[in-house]
Amino acid sequence: MSDELNLGLDGVLVTESSLSHVDGETGRLIYRGYAIEDLAREASFEEVLYLLWHGELPDADALSSFEDALADERPIDDDVVETLRALAAADETPMAALRTATSMLSAYEPEHPDPEDLDASLRQGRRITAKMPTILAAYDRLRDGDEPIEPRDDLGHAANFLYMRDGEEPDEVAVETLDQALTLHADHGLNASTFTTVVVSSTLADVYNAITAGIGALAGPLHGGANQDVMDILLEIDDSDLDPREWVEEAIDEGRRIPGFGHRVYQVKDPRALILEERSAELADSTGDDRWYDYAKTIEDYLTDEVGLVEKGIAPNVDFYSGSVYYQLGMPADMYTPIFVMSRVGGWLAHALEYRENNRIIRPRARYVGETDAEFVPIDQR
Ligand code: SDX
Repeated sequence: MSDELNLGLDGVLVTESSLSHVDGETGRLIYRGYAIEDLAREASFEEVLYLLWHGELPDADALSSFEDALADERPIDDDVVETLRALAAADETPMAALRTATSMLSAYEPEHPDPEDLDASLRQGRRITAKMPTILAAYDRLRDGDEPIEPRDDLGHAANFLYMRDGEEPDEVAVETLDQALTLHADHGLNASTFTTVVVSSTLADVYNAITAGIGALAGPLHGGANQDVMDILLEIDDSDLDPREWVEEAIDEGRRIPGFGHRVYQVKDPRALILEERSAELADSTGDDRWYDYAKTIEDYLTDEVGLVEKGIAPNVDFYSGSVYYQLGMPADMYTPIFVMSRVGGWLAHALEYRENNRIIRPRARYVGETDAEFVPIDQR
């Protein structure tokens, strides 16, 4: 038994996995052996989900059946819609609404299998994955006073989300961009939210409990919430008479942490940030609105060249450019972390079920540094 204290479990190995590997030194990310660059450019999000859940890329027939199974599970119960309506009236955040509605799905679970039944648990996780875009699109419309739009079964995962949000056929660039972003966010080793999901699942709690817990963990600004914080900064700069360089100089002088920079594992620029940066630049060109990309790039260049953060191993992570990409697709900032959830649910499910194959409840220790042998004093003498 080790007596060494690892704050934040930094560098602690707790299991073996064949799902994804993050090489922080070289800035490389692979899912089941495939480079993220190949998957992001050549595979659909549905192919990547299949790869994570079934261990291999699907052939055309397997992919078609998988897409149909996901599409069949998209509708949500009317009671869930009415709960979303109530949450919208209470001005809840989309992230909290997604957490609440995802947890509520268990009431309409058709199977209620033994949590140790991994095949049934995978079906449960697939149901949740299929319904999350429906929940999120419905919520975004309800809070704007519009009625939800029923999912279609003839559109892909990303396209159907955009259709349910806007009520019109999504354009190809938006579909391709969102699909690629979902692939980029699908898995990333034992990050905080994935580890949370695995911890809950290691107690043999069911998939609804594990995934709801994962949403809670991802909500934090040190983790999934950073993408919204980056966009808030870009909007702040746009609203102010500060130019991005002045903003970041002030922020560094005040000792502020720049969201979207730094990572527990990557010591160099996150490979996902490189791909999202490209997309942000392409969207700036295609939309003719280059503000968001330019602000982000100016901040990155200042932090890299003037402050030397990258030399210290503090480089752009996946959140630094995702905000400007989503914003240029017309998404409000408070939808970015929920979109992260729509993708990472794939990795959460994969890790929870992989860990179950050789399950052991996760239970670390704390070094006790409190009082010992305290003398009890009855309340009337305290
Ligand atoms: C994600 O783990 C994953 O894989 C996560 C993720 C995934 O796909 O699941 O990649 C997604 O969560 C990306 C990270 C999003 N969060 C942010 O962008 C928030 C800003 N970044 C940080 O707060 C921080 O970098 C963390 C939380 C990401 C990592 O924290 P660590 O590993 O505990 O590092 P640390 O806080 O100990 O910082 C180490 C040093 C410190 O300097 P010193 O005090 O030692 O001098 O780096 C500095 C920090 O001050 N530092 C920063 C910084 N992040 C760290 N300095 C300025 N700006 C920053 N953003």
